[in-house]
Amino acid sequence: MELVVQVGDIAKWQGDGIVVNLFEGVTEPKGATGAVDKSLKGLLTKLIAQGELKGKLGSATIVHTHDRLPADRVCVVGLGKPEEFTLDRARQAAANGVKALRDAGAKKIATIIHGAGVGGLDASRAAQANAEGIVMGLWQFRKYHSDNSEVKELDRVVLLERDAAQARTMRDAVRRGRIIGEATNRARDLANEPGNTATPTYLANVAKAIAKKYALEFFVIDRAQAKRLGMGAFLGVAQGSDEPPAIIVLRYWGAGKKAKPGLGIVGKAITFDSGGISIKPSENMQDMKGDMSGGAAVIAAMQAIAQLKPRINVTGIVPATENLPSGKAYKPGDILRAANGKTIEVVSTDAEGRLILADALVYATQTLKLAPVVDAATLTGAMVIALGHHRTGVFSNDKELTDLLFQIGEETGEKNWAMPMDPEYREQIQSDWADLKNTGGRPAGSITGAWFIRSFVGETPWAHLDIAGSVGMMAGSKEIGYKNKWGNGTPTRTFINLALALAKK
Ligand code: BES
Ligand code: MN
Ligand code: ZN
Repeated sequence: MELVVQVGDIAKWQGDGIVVNLFEGVTEPKGATGAVDKSLKGLLTKLIAQGELKGKLGSATIVHTHDRLPADRVCVVGLGKPEEFTLDRARQAAANGVKALRDAGAKKIATIIHGAGVGGLDASRAAQANAEGIVMGLWQFRKYHSDNSEVKELDRVVLLERDAAQARTMRDAVRRGRIIGEATNRARDLANEPGNTATPTYLANVAKAIAKKYALEFFVIDRAQAKRLGMGAFLGVAQGSDEPPAIIVLRYWGAGKKAKPGLGIVGKAITFDSGGISIKPSENMQDMKGDMSGGAAVIAAMQAIAQLKPRINVTGIVPATENLPSGKAYKPGDILRAANGKTIEVVSTDAEGRLILADALVYATQTLKLAPVVDAATLTGAMVIALGHHRTGVFSNDKELTDLLFQIGEETGEKNWAMPMDPEYREQIQSDWADLKNTGGRPAGSITGAWFIRSFVGETPWAHLDIAGSVGMMAGSKEIGYKNKWGNGTPTRTFINLALALAKK
């Protein structure tokens, strides 16, 4: 799909369809929507008066122009209430508009840049958000369907801007938006891929191909190497599986090798989580192919970072393995020793994410000396209960990093929320047999999970993103705007924007 910025007037644009917008409560549209309404001899105003066009966020109404305009169709997307308008709503509206015209069968369409005009947003930021919304909104995963004859796709989307100088700056913004949107789509592709394809080796091969294409450093810590490094927690989880495990490492040297090691991003990649010997109930167990979503986001973010080239060093680390029961599998009661020497009593083999993260985080903080370090993991079902699907829980030892992640979330739409980490909660993971145990019981399960992970980062500024709810890897999660209903790529854009923000400091 082509995505270009052109100078022009939407009411004069010729093609299969154009997208304009409408705020809730507006009875006489102004700007581009007003111009289109005029050409349509007041049809939009009439539809508003009749209550068919309301401007509600999430709406996308298509009307046919019957040759009153050079374009065949007009799609009016709702922007919601003006006082609630945000950059992310512009992103959502952009997705809603292009999806509606695509589904109506259009191929070549043009859209105004939502939020830049009447919305009052900075033109460049709006253009980037629109591009992100369009690229992400049009994502589909059809590779395993034999019959795709009914699948609709757009060939060309034109972002129209009337001012030539403005259009020039928007071109850079659209390029950034496209890179970021495509990276998110990459994370979605990986998460949606079934467990029999997306093995640790597959993820390593994808990372390797990205490294080659975008000139990143790449290496893998395999089972033998992990043994030499004393990664007993990671290996404990991996020992029940016949698939070779891998800790995938991608390094971007945007500040040069003489500068600080820089940002570390670490993502849990359990390519299938059966629970192991503490086996999960079979209902909806298939969703656990998405238990590598944190790792997918890390790999995808590294791709975008390599393209955007911020002046900062960034290392992505992805511990990847299956969690399966077998005659070789680790068991409840087993005691594992992590790479920093700490011993862990296994209470549940289903609390495996924190175990693989433990060794990956020791490697990130002690071996590679990365700082800050941010990990993302589909860690706990309790997170879904606490915050549902609309916000990621942030657990951190650093206030500044927490605030930055919150800010990034408001702008990207990958919304974050700081969770408490009072030391009292830590007592729940004290063990009678070892230095700590891998579960703290049902109360505050996400917080005790975060405390477990925190025990492996030392004093390094660190944040943990529990994306179990926000990544949408569950039956029944919904499509909203540019967010697809299953495995939506969170927190790829958070990682990318974090690298960009830290590079500016
Ligand atoms: N991958 C799961 C968490 C999960 C659950 C993610 C639902 C997405 C949706 C994780 O490995 C897990 O099994 N966590 C356990 C931890 C418990 C045994 C302490 C959980 O949440 O039940
Ligand atoms: Mn589990
Ligand atoms: Zn898991």
